Amino acid sequence: MKDKPLSLESVSRTFGATEVLRDFSLNIVLGEFVAIVGPSGCGKTTLLHLLAGFDKPSSGRVIIKGRVRMVYQQDGLFPWRTVAENIQMGLRHVRDKTERERELKELLALIRLEGFEDNYPHQLSGGMKQRVELARALAGDTDTLLLDEPFSALDYLTRLRLRRELARMLKERPRTVVLVTHDIEEAAQLADRVIVLSDRPARIRCELQLAAERPRDPTHPEVIDAMHQILTVLGLEHDARESEVFSL
Ligand SMILES: Nc1ncnc2c1ncn2[C@@H]1O[C@H](COP(=O)(O)OP(=O)(O)OP(=O)(O)O)[C@@H](O)[C@H]1O
Ligand SMILES: [Mg+2]
Repeated sequence: MKDKPLSLESVSRTFGATEVLRDFSLNIVLGEFVAIVGPSGCGKTTLLHLLAGFDKPSSGRVIIKGRVRMVYQQDGLFPWRTVAENIQMGLRHVRDKTERERELKELLALIRLEGFEDNYPHQLSGGMKQRVELARALAGDTDTLLLDEPFSALDYLTRLRLRRELARMLKERPRTVVLVTHDIEEAAQLADRVIVLSDRPARIRCELQLAAERPRDPTHPEVIDAMHQILTVLGLEHDARESEVFSL
């Protein structure tokens, strides 16, 4: 079906004796922004690699429609290529040279890096590099972005800024997005749906829907409420009885 660009149907994935996913099902609808949070090693990257078609399930079915692009935590750029050349890697399928150049200009403006096209990655800050990665992933007629902790190597203020930037970019270039993050605030600020996974083999512990328009501030009531719910599911919610002791 066209409205479900990505689905996993009863997927299992094992690596030797390690069972990462067992009978795992997930449907992502067109244009949806899904955030996946869960403990380290529970299988989040494995899940994204299956959705990207980079990996195959041990059993079950993965359905992928359209062009999918992945963005990693860091070092996803080719260090020997300039900003423009890195972005153009995402435009290889665009045949017409004039169209490629027009698109490159538009993407540089979208990530606000006009004037940096001839710089190499080592000449950029971490936040600038991640913006170039996003531009490459958004280039051309990509349908889906798979983001594997794309901002986690950055400092808090840069992360906040990039969440806002990503929301703005998606307004201009709507895409289906699957974001893997350790950061529940990031998940609650950005996603239409947050999926909380258990330890390996990963199960869906809970799903939350969020409706507030993006960009959402970290202090938005819906964001705060979602964070409380996620922390409760993870067993990390602050206990009111403890606060009585500390508030003396
Ligand atoms: N190619 C592989 N070969 C063998 N084991 C693998 C492979 N890929 C992943 N694993 C194992 O699968 C498990 C899940 O790994 P995965 O990278 O998906 O976790 P993750 O949730 O992304 O963790 P993190 O939050 O630390 O990034 C780990 O135990 C890992 O060792
Ligand atoms: Mg990972």
